[in-house]
Amino acid sequence: FSLQLYNTLGLPSTAKFCVEVSHSSQLPQVIALANKHSLPVIVLGEGSNAILAPVIDAVVVLMRIQHRQIAFEPQLQQAVVTLGAGESWHEAVCYCLENHCYGLENLALIPGCAGAAPVQNIGAYGRELSDFLLSVTVFNPQTLQLEVMSAEQCQLSYRESIFKQQLRELIIVDITLSLSMQDKPRYGYQALQQQLTLPADEITANDVFDAVVAVRSRKLPNPAILANAGSFFKNPVVSASQYQQLRAEFPQLVGYVQADDNVKLAAGWLIDQAGWRGRSLGPVAMHKEQALVLVNNGGATLADVVALVEQVKADSQKRYGLSLEVEPRWLG
Ligand code: EPU
Repeated sequence: FSLQLYNTLGLPSTAKFCVEVSHSSQLPQVIALANKHSLPVIVLGEGSNAILAPVIDAVVVLMRIQHRQIAFEPQLQQAVVTLGAGESWHEAVCYCLENHCYGLENLALIPGCAGAAPVQNIGAYGRELSDFLLSVTVFNPQTLQLEVMSAEQCQLSYRESIFKQQLRELIIVDITLSLSMQDKPRYGYQALQQQLTLPADEITANDVFDAVVAVRSRKLPNPAILANAGSFFKNPVVSASQYQQLRAEFPQLVGYVQADDNVKLAAGWLIDQAGWRGRSLGPVAMHKEQALVLVNNGGATLADVVALVEQVKADSQKRYGLSLEVEPRWLG
């Protein structure tokens, strides 16, 4: 089964088995199929944060569980929103805003499904999923049961969770978020401030949504037009002293001080300054508007991606002494 149209990076990839799942009751059969052929199970949502191997010896689940509910709790001014894992994230953001549930506006236009959101703790423009997550329902392939995990058990951190580590075998079937019934948006992120021109007391969540959509559309290529998997490297976190050393050599270095005094560096800036913005290697390139995004100009294979990743990493190591980490998941 070809997965080329099922990953936004557009890599050619063939899976042994591929099953579309629209209800959690189908999952025991999926596990039975995998066990029968001694294959692992790999879940794919919209395939927007994945780097697929040419051959995937696995049962690939195309996650299509779709449902959404809101329970309002007016006394707490809170709305509890549950989203099936296969719901489109951006459509869910729009649905919440339309229903006067606020907070997700900063996370507008992030590609992918709701079920993928906790895996890498999606984040943008000053907010991340961990600000809202209450719980996750997972299917456990060992017990064939559904289990509810609290946000704490998911161990979310910057582009990380337990679903990328010890609990990779769990299949997320829905997520539950706590949103606010009060329209009090956050727009401290510099790129948003520049985009928003209204007086501060007039800015609504819908304005922030519009600003995020405008900024993202300007900088990040639409995968439907130019194949990509979003940010391709994590922003490296360094100690305050390492930051000062780098700063002495690169006075323009972009970094954000974290709560623990460590500094998160903008990998986009590092890659840009190393000369990779808009530069290609065969059919792949680092995007001309956002050097952090690797794009497939057409016909790329996994080997092309690996070659570019290796060069960018080697340059970063040589120039800054920093080891960049790939952000999307290698699957298969
Ligand atoms: N920059 C450059 N050159 C570039 C790209 C960026 O100099 O080619 C500089 C920018 O001028 C800015 C800084 O680097 O000063 C940061 O850039 P930006 O605001 O675009 O954010 P980012 O750190 O590159 C992160 C997330 C994005 C998220 C944005 C906005 C990661 C790996 N990426 O990017 O998330 O949308 O912040 O919050 O954390 C994703 O994870 O796929 C993703 C797109």
